[in-house]
Amino acid sequence: MSVIPLDNQGNGERVPLGAFPTPLEPLDRLTEHLGGPRVWAKRDDYSGLAGGGNKVRKLEFLLADALRQGADVVLTCGAVQSNHARVTAAACSRLGLACELWLNRRVPDRQGSYELSGNLLLDRLLDARIELLPGDVDAELAAEQRTVELTGMGLRPYLIPTGGSNALGARAYVDCAQELLDQADRAGVSPGTIVVPMGSGGTLAGLSAGLGMAGWTGRLLGIAVSATPWERVAALAGETASALGQPGSVREFELDDGFVGPGYGVPTVDGIDAIRLLARLEGMLLDPVYTGKTMAALIAHVLSGALSSDEDVLFLHTGGWPALFAYLEDL
Ligand SMILES: Cc1ncc(COP(=O)(O)O)c(C=O)c1O
Repeated sequence: MSVIPLDNQGNGERVPLGAFPTPLEPLDRLTEHLGGPRVWAKRDDYSGLAGGGNKVRKLEFLLADALRQGADVVLTCGAVQSNHARVTAAACSRLGLACELWLNRRVPDRQGSYELSGNLLLDRLLDARIELLPGDVDAELAAEQRTVELTGMGLRPYLIPTGGSNALGARAYVDCAQELLDQADRAGVSPGTIVVPMGSGGTLAGLSAGLGMAGWTGRLLGIAVSATPWERVAALAGETASALGQPGSVREFELDDGFVGPGYGVPTVDGIDAIRLLARLEGMLLDPVYTGKTMAALIAHVLSGALSSDEDVLFLHTGGWPALFAYLEDL
């Protein structure tokens, strides 16, 4: 598989895995329903590769690094229904690499479909080795220990952190920022606010760096789906911009943690309502963990007037629909 060099500093090489650019689409029926600002969606749920989502972009960079290092096995970690784990497994299949997924049961009180369907079913089909850990076990630490063990066995493991959120993974969203600004420009749209889910933070950090480098001056709004501290995301944005030779070129972002509900991976009434609304009005599939809660926040901000009706609002659709099947009891 070829690796594409993107710049002449040796930074940012990527291995092609997805279908880019992803479309930028107006959500006309949602806009009409809300009677507020014009809402657009950047469709990173259409990025391809076994269900797509935001992780495809990150893995193009991370797995190029793994190939450069001569890795033969890739390890990553997350929650049982991690989209990142599913896309990592798919990318490893495509590249002929072995894949180990270290997943913990951090979402409480889940039965039935949660460990039988959704991303976990796909992980199995994609031939990953899966380790299910108790909820209080640090999956990242377990994967680190396994990496040491594999090295001792003479293998060349490559460990990807939770959500692929290091500076190399976040680098992918620098490109996405430019891609969406170009598309908006061509469509005659000038987004005043960009709304994006925030889990491990690499997506928001990369956008913050990319939008800052592009000189964009709008409002970047992250919607938290877990308790990730914003300081960590801000530091990652700075690190990402520095790695590209532009330290300090970051767009500041705001973080709204009012839509997490009881916790990561636990569905909320507003989030489920948003899933149903977007399916009915736009034929668009959201998910209960990330994009449903983020759309619920966007809708609430429109209804409260916090997003003004004369602006264009851009929702970054980061994917996640395979998890719907793991939450069928909630839907
Ligand atoms: C569908 C989906 N949306 C958003 C996110 C959040 O992205 P990040 O971890 O980069 O904050 C994830 C992360 O797993 C995801 O799977």
